[in-house]
Amino acid sequence: MKVTSHVVARMLGTWQEGPGPAHQRLSDRLRLLVLDGRLPLGSTLPSERDLATALSTSRTTVGAAYRTLVEHGYLATRARAKATVRLPDDPPPERRSGTNSATIDLSFAAPPAPVEILHAAFAAALEQLPRHFERHGYDRNGTAELREAVAHWYQRRGLPTPPDHILITNGAQHALALLARTLLSPRDQVLIDHPTYPHAISTFTEVRARLLPVAVASSGWDTAQLHAAGRIATLAYLIPDFHNPTGLCMPTSARQSLKLACPTVIDETMTDLALDRASPDPFAIHMPTAISIGSVSKSIWGGLRIGWIRATPSLLERVQQTRHATDLGTPVVEQLATAILLDEDQTQRPGTLEQLRSQRDVLRQALTEDLPDLHVPQPAGGLTLWATFPQPISSRLAAIAPDYGVTIAAGPRFGIGGAFERNIRLPYTLPQDQLTQAIRRLAQAEQALTRGATGAHSPAPVA
Ligand SMILES: Cc1ncc(COP(=O)(O)O)c(C=O)c1O
Repeated sequence: MKVTSHVVARMLGTWQEGPGPAHQRLSDRLRLLVLDGRLPLGSTLPSERDLATALSTSRTTVGAAYRTLVEHGYLATRARAKATVRLPDDPPPERRSGTNSATIDLSFAAPPAPVEILHAAFAAALEQLPRHFERHGYDRNGTAELREAVAHWYQRRGLPTPPDHILITNGAQHALALLARTLLSPRDQVLIDHPTYPHAISTFTEVRARLLPVAVASSGWDTAQLHAAGRIATLAYLIPDFHNPTGLCMPTSARQSLKLACPTVIDETMTDLALDRASPDPFAIHMPTAISIGSVSKSIWGGLRIGWIRATPSLLERVQQTRHATDLGTPVVEQLATAILLDEDQTQRPGTLEQLRSQRDVLRQALTEDLPDLHVPQPAGGLTLWATFPQPISSRLAAIAPDYGVTIAAGPRFGIGGAFERNIRLPYTLPQDQLTQAIRRLAQAEQALTRGATGAHSPAPVA
């Protein structure tokens, strides 16, 4: 796949800012795009000349940046062929020594599987499976068992839901992509939280919609601004329950007063991850027209790849028509197992929530000790801290962090136009010792950055 110079320029955002030579800043930013998966492996980059023009910089700067990436294994070049994105075969030397030096991945916010509970659910699902054998197995709405189980899950939370208002998808991301393809046309405007879940940005960009960001500040959502943006948007996409990345939860009063003029997709993927308060009511209690999407990826396990859309049967019919072009349904065994897990009420397990709470507290404590300048609000739920540095160093820090044995998601991933350069998202889904170690390494990277290190010349060993 060829990535055009304009797309690369847009992804790079404000790469010119910051200390050090321009070519190093450029190679750091490009390296971060590779590590973040935004420049896919195997894709080809624009020529030096095209990228230099798109970035209004010199060809020498782009050439030097590309050479650095080739040297460090992030680009492959062949005669007369364009530079192709790759990953280094071996970790850099500073990461190879020591037994405790494997990179700690803080870029993913997803908990591990509850092993015994999953084993039991799959064993029970296999016993139920034969009753599906006489049918063809293509259930484009999902199996009756799971649609009923999801409908009961809403019902238990106070929102009556007939099973024909549920369509099962392969995760909430799939649900969002199907809705985007069904409801949006190129150049339509989509109201989004800012910051927001990064793959939502890619989803809307892929259908060539324009983004209309409304700030989610530390004080939360501004309903007046949401109403104003809702008047010009074709669609709104909000994450009111333990918002990714901030962990904020929209207060009931705001939910009650919100009446957007455009169709509104409410992402409730995080709703069961209530740590210091009760789970919020389903949003559609307050906004009956809301199109809700949900998932068991965060509350049970991402590997199940089960999510859903709750909407009117007529909208679900349209979504189904869209779905024909991409996939023909969700695997039956996973659906049966998830129905069992939902019927057993396994989405809010006290032990798991307690573990997340203590991991969150350990992470906050480690940040207080090792990165005392970082401002770290305490979220009441979700899986992540959204921390703020005094300086705009997020992308540069994310670029050099792997050399110190830790990967993080830089703030600009969660916004558009290069915003959130002072923020990083830190998940608390890993065991406590790994979280403490990761923050120690991040602090080393931050100190090196202050001394002027860049990703291409990272000096320090991993402790
Ligand atoms: C807000 C939000 N929505 C959707 C998703 C995707 O969920 P799934 O794994 O069910 O596709 C995520 C995953 O991180 C998320 O944070």
